[in-house]
Amino acid sequence: VSRPTMAMERSYIMIKPDGVQRGLVGKIITRFEERGYKLAGLKLKQADEALLKKHYKDLVDKPFFPKLLAYMISGPVVCMAWEGKDVVAMGRKMLGETNPLASAPGTIRGDFCLEVWRNICHGSDSVENADKEIALWFGEAEVVDHESAMQDWIY
Ligand code: PPS
Repeated sequence: VSRPTMAMERSYIMIKPDGVQRGLVGKIITRFEERGYKLAGLKLKQADEALLKKHYKDLVDKPFFPKLLAYMISGPVVCMAWEGKDVVAMGRKMLGETNPLASAPGTIRGDFCLEVWRNICHGSDSVENADKEIALWFGEAEVVDHESAMQDWIY
């Protein structure tokens, strides 16, 4: 039996406080599961300013950063590591554009929101950033290695 030996690509997908409060967590998880992706990490977390300044380090000088920060600490977020083929680029497609008006119906933002800043979810923009974001939001033991976990259940 040949098994894939290459490490699967992962993306950091985060459901923002509005997505959690509006009860969209299940729907968003379902979209990724149905597409064929595997959940490698999942937790609910109340983020603080220090963590968000690291996560959004390239945006701290933007005029909208205080608003983004207040929004992101206004309630818990759902942190997810999704795994599978091209999940970073596909995750961005599934999320839609930053501006919901530019997001096609069928995308998460195109279906569930109206405002740029309350845009439901975050998705990594590159494989390199995905690895950094997963390392920032998860401890090493919180991200599952599916290959071996599945073998333990099946064989
Ligand atoms: S930029 O300016 O090109 O870096 O912006 P962009 O990459 O599109 O978005 C980066 C994140 O900033 C959020 N954002 C905003 N928040 C509040 N107010 C305004 N005006 C605003 N514009 C952009 C945007 O939702 C992105 O968040 P993430 O979590 O990365 O999706």
